[in-house]
Amino acid sequence: MDGKKMPIDIRSLTPPIAYRLMTGIVVPRPIAWVTSLSAEGVLNLAPFSAFTFVSMNPVLIGINIGRKAGVRKDTEVNIRASGEYVVHIGGFADRHAIHESSAEHPPDVSEVDVLGLATTASDRVEVPRLRDAPVAMECKLDQIVSFGRGGSEFVVGEVLLVHAREGLVKNGKIDTRALDPICRIAGPNYASLGEIVTMRNIELAEK
Ligand SMILES: Cc1cc2nc3c(=O)[nH]c(=O)nc-3n(C[C@H](O)[C@H](O)[C@H](O)COP(=O)(O)O)c2cc1C
Repeated sequence: MDGKKMPIDIRSLTPPIAYRLMTGIVVPRPIAWVTSLSAEGVLNLAPFSAFTFVSMNPVLIGINIGRKAGVRKDTEVNIRASGEYVVHIGGFADRHAIHESSAEHPPDVSEVDVLGLATTASDRVEVPRLRDAPVAMECKLDQIVSFGRGGSEFVVGEVLLVHAREGLVKNGKIDTRALDPICRIAGPNYASLGEIVTMRNIELAEK
C-alpha cells in the first residue's frame, strides 16, 4: 500500500451518483423501520438507514427522509400530520421484510398487510407497532429540519417508550448478539455483525 488516494470531486457529481458513493462510504448503517398512520388510518411501514440518535436529554432520534421524484414520502407526510410514529430495530432475520417494505405502494396500501406482519397497539401513541420486531420505540415528533436543494428533511422525534424483546436487556444494556441487528451497506446489500471486540474502558465526558 503506497497510501495514494484518488480524489473525487464530489461537488461535480450528480445527486444520484453522489448518493451511490456516500451510501458506500457511510457504512454500516442501522435501519429505522418506521410505522406511521395516514389520515385515513392506513398503517405505513418503511425502512430508513440515514438514522442516528441526536440527544439523550430528552432522548431524540433522527431519520433523514428524501423525496421520491420531488414528492414527500408517505412516512414523512404521516409524521408531519399526526406527530407520531414508531421506530423499530429489526434483526438480521427480518431482512426480507425490511427490504420488501421499501417497495413503493400507494398511500392507501399498507406494507404491513402486504407483508403479513403482525402488529399490536402502542401505549403512548396511536400508531401500532410491529409485534415481533426485537425493539420498538414509540416516538413523538420534535422537529423537522430541511437540508440541501433536493428536499431532504431530517425528522427528529422524542422516544417516549421503548419495547425490547424479552431477554434482550441485561443490566440495562442490550445484548447485541441477541439483537443481531441488521446493517445496511450500499444498494440492496446488507450485513450482520462480525466480530465484537472489547477495548479498555475510556471514560467519555459526552453526556
Ligand atoms: C434498507 C433501506 C434503507 C433506506 N433508507 C432510506 C433513508 O434513509 N431515507 C430515505 O428517504 N429513503 C430510504 N430508503 C427508501 C425508502 O424506504 C423508500 O423510499 C420507501 O418506499 C418510502 O416509503 P413511504 O413512501 O411509505 O414512506 C431506504 C430503503 C431501504 C431498503
